[in-house]
Amino acid sequence: MTSYKLLLLPGDGIGPEVMAEVEKVIDALDALGLAHFEIERDLVGGSAIDAHGKPLTDEALARADAADAILLGAVGGPKWADVAYEIRPEAGLLRLRKDLGLFANLRPAICYPALADASALKRELVEGLDIMIVRELTGGVYFGEPKEITTLPDGSKRAVDTQVYTTAEIERIAHVAFDLARKRSGRVASAEKHNVMKSGVLWKEVVTRVHSEYGDVSLEHVLADNCAMQLVRRPKQYDVLVTDNLFGDVLSDVAAMLTGSLGMLPSASLGAVDAKGSRKALYEPVHGSAPDIAGKGYANPIAMIGSLAMCLRYSFGLGEAADLLDAAVTRTLASGARTRDIAAEGVTPISTAEMGDAIIRELTHAAG
Ligand code: IPM
Ligand code: MG
Repeated sequence: MTSYKLLLLPGDGIGPEVMAEVEKVIDALDALGLAHFEIERDLVGGSAIDAHGKPLTDEALARADAADAILLGAVGGPKWADVAYEIRPEAGLLRLRKDLGLFANLRPAICYPALADASALKRELVEGLDIMIVRELTGGVYFGEPKEITTLPDGSKRAVDTQVYTTAEIERIAHVAFDLARKRSGRVASAEKHNVMKSGVLWKEVVTRVHSEYGDVSLEHVLADNCAMQLVRRPKQYDVLVTDNLFGDVLSDVAAMLTGSLGMLPSASLGAVDAKGSRKALYEPVHGSAPDIAGKGYANPIAMIGSLAMCLRYSFGLGEAADLLDAAVTRTLASGARTRDIAAEGVTPISTAEMGDAIIRELTHAAG
């Protein structure tokens, strides 16, 4: 059986704790003969700043470039609040995304039946929810130049971020969204603000043009602010939702919370398909480093484990193993196992490691 080269970048805060559970799942997949990996580990974010004075070394970037896929935990925390902007923990993650060309960020928001009551919204609004947010990840205001704070003659300051998109950048992310929709319910909604932003005007125009190649997929344009409102009003109206880097950052946090907890959402960041048919890919939970609960065993490892499942599916074509892992998570939740973030009042929560163990038990049971 092929052995895949996987780079693990646990990062900061709860990153290492949830990554430890993924390592246990990786061992279980190996023992069950479902998938084999060559594991490498490196630092990113604050942990890399502490060790090397920068959030991502050239060596770590080279390792990431050479790996078949990367799994990342989370970066950042108050400990590094005062480091220079250029070397803040988040810059390590952004460099990975940009330098590896990971332009397509897939963020599925799925509401597990067992968790419909953990959502901030009523059960009937979220039960059965299954949205795929497709966020453009290497353009827009995150990387646009100029990006600076300058001092004006009167001594006050002026800050600039630049929102910029080219036709090619919009085209390729639109293709990802329409291709995905074909495998799902055949519906795409595209969110921008063409009523205020030139980049929104171009976005809408290009997405509409790409859509003409997909006669079997329906397209709806929605203003990003209205989309945020619709997501909490009637979220199930959406299937695939394609949007830019900044709107995608915000809307994916909203969608995440619909599912009950930010601790549930995995994500995949994919590059272009190369001549050999493979693509660079990084998988990470949507949640952050949650420094307030780090080291306490409270963190929910499901988003991180779900990121491994996405990796099996999208990078290695191991759909069967991914299905088994996803099903193990569903059954674990159905059995009543809850970390703190998803525990209803009166339910005794289990620890990060106990949740990992419970998922592995279900996986072993199903695969055995
Ligand atoms: C995310 C995060 C990142 C982002 C941060 C950590 C830089 O919020 O992946 O959604 O803004 O993209
Ligand atoms: Mg975010």
